[in-house]
Amino acid sequence: MSNLLEVKGLTKQFGGVTAVSDVEFHVKPGEVVAVIGPNGAGKTTLFNMISCFISPTTGEVFYKGKNLTGKKISTLAQLGISRTFQNLQIFENMTVLENVMMGAHIKLKTNVLNAAFRLPRIKKDEKLAYEMALQVIKMVELEDLLYEKAGQLSFGQQKQLEFARALVYEPEFIMLDEPMAGLNDTETNKMASYIREFKKKGCSFLFVEHKMATVMELADRIVVIDFGKKIAEGTPEEIQKNKKVIAAYLGEEVV
Ligand SMILES: Nc1ncnc2c1ncn2[C@@H]1O[C@H](COP(=O)(O)OP(=O)(O)OP(=O)(O)O)[C@@H](O)[C@H]1O
Ligand SMILES: [Mg+2]
Repeated sequence: MSNLLEVKGLTKQFGGVTAVSDVEFHVKPGEVVAVIGPNGAGKTTLFNMISCFISPTTGEVFYKGKNLTGKKISTLAQLGISRTFQNLQIFENMTVLENVMMGAHIKLKTNVLNAAFRLPRIKKDEKLAYEMALQVIKMVELEDLLYEKAGQLSFGQQKQLEFARALVYEPEFIMLDEPMAGLNDTETNKMASYIREFKKKGCSFLFVEHKMATVMELADRIVVIDFGKKIAEGTPEEIQKNKKVIAAYLGEEVV
């Protein structure tokens, strides 16, 4: 089967610093791929290039064979790509429901033409956004907090909320930058179970994470980045045995 995502020779220089250097990998439909590597290795920079937040110095990104390089961020939602951020990006003064409905509207806006003949459109879109939001909020177990301000939630709940907002418009490909960072073990397991649940529905994931036990359990394949370069790629079993990876990142106690 052809690749969903293809990353070719991606390089990013910030002034004199090469944050990402000639990175290549792919994601197949239905796969969960993890990107791991030490702090400052270039993982977020790589994510920012793939999701069109920054443009690469050189290299290209293809999604379903389409060249994404240089596209606007808004194009991604239309193509069915979604992402979350290493630093939470939720609206603290809005409710849980409003935060997730914002995500739903991204999809509905792209369907304005289709909806043009279905009047009254706005009311209908609002209802649809509510229903889409409610469904995903239930999946991440926040339905008791629908009208709570996002700023009042615990950190773990805020991460669940951001995940829900990324998933609400039914993307096919989701990029998560450290979805488990700062979560306790129970919350980490919950987040892993949400990812598995969406995988079952056919979603593909690319995620950065430092929590190795979860990475090894969730990922079909792992890409390892060190000083901006890909130093290894393989199944969790292969990566755990890889000497370069152990030396650069995993250390001995984790393996
Ligand atoms: N906008 C920028 N301008 C200059 N340098 C940057 C910029 N963004 C990132 N860098 C540098 O690029 C390198 C890679 O950073 P990046 O945030 O991609 O690492 P990371 O692998 O995500 O790290 P972490 O695990 O800590 O999140 C670092 O040296 C960082 O200082
Ligand atoms: Mg990062």
